[in-house]
Amino acid sequence: MLIRRPADIRPSEITSETNYLNRREFIRAGAIAGGSLLAPAALAAVIPEQRRARLDGVAKSPFSTDETPNSYDDITTYNNFYEFGTGKGDPAVYARDFEPRPWTIAVEGHAEKTGIFDFDDFMKPFDLEERIYRLRCVEAWSMVIPWVGVPLADVVKHFLPTSKAKYVAFETLHDPSRMPGQRRRVLDWPYREGLTIAEATNPLTILAVGLYGEVMPNQNGAPIRLVVPWKYGFKSIKSIVRIRFAERRPKTSWNMATPREYGFYANVNPDVDHPRWSQARERRIGAGLFASKQPTLMFNGYGEHVAHLYKGLDLRRNF
Ligand code: MTE
Repeated sequence: MLIRRPADIRPSEITSETNYLNRREFIRAGAIAGGSLLAPAALAAVIPEQRRARLDGVAKSPFSTDETPNSYDDITTYNNFYEFGTGKGDPAVYARDFEPRPWTIAVEGHAEKTGIFDFDDFMKPFDLEERIYRLRCVEAWSMVIPWVGVPLADVVKHFLPTSKAKYVAFETLHDPSRMPGQRRRVLDWPYREGLTIAEATNPLTILAVGLYGEVMPNQNGAPIRLVVPWKYGFKSIKSIVRIRFAERRPKTSWNMATPREYGFYANVNPDVDHPRWSQARERRIGAGLFASKQPTLMFNGYGEHVAHLYKGLDLRRNF
């Protein structure tokens, strides 16, 4: 299989950051000179519909790890997405024909702006960034993934949550005709997840719309999914259709299924074992069969950015 890595892409295919910034400055200046209120639309993040289409105007993020990303092949063939089967290879096969457009996102609950938004309109106000993050799955494997997305903090601010919004809840599409895994009750569908408002607005949390500079592959959660790098992978809910600003802690799928094993917080923690296995070490996917496991880091190595969120909280009880 021929994989196009960033290194293989001709410089002429990439909008340089300078050009990109100049273009935006140009649009902004024009909008101001013309007294136009159209500026936000003109600065739109545009997400093409075609599979593997490149995303335009993606800025680099200082939050990226300098570890080498896993290959495109690893990232798109070893997945957890129970809506398309419970085997790691199932999503790549059974999500092949999934059509992630047209797509709408309902924004509900304690916010000044709510409604049902077409995916493109939803994305327009935000700037795209590449964030290379470690993903640590609760099953003790990990990968490094070059996501493209927008800070969830920007999205939250845009919808103007009220002081009652203590949590942000997310839901995946529920449509067994399009997601064949939902014909079996392996989970109580739709897949649900949630964060505290402080976690949702932490600068590390993103809504991702692509990877390796291209639109999100179906098996990774097209067209839009959450990425919370200091938490076990199951918090990073895929194919989101609903975002709700809630006063009470929302129900979350794995906690509903097995509360003894999966808590609401799900912070990566090598000191707190899963009831059935250790969380102290992890296997890096793609490292080869004989590679030794590597130690798992507290908060998946993102402690300097997030440890303050859990000060005074007993992480053994609040797992
Ligand atoms: N989101 C939905 N809707 N359904 C799922 O089964 N699996 C979770 C999470 N998001 C899951 C989901 C788990 S357990 C992991 S480890 C990550 O997605 C995997 O993301 P990836 O396949 O892009 O690596």
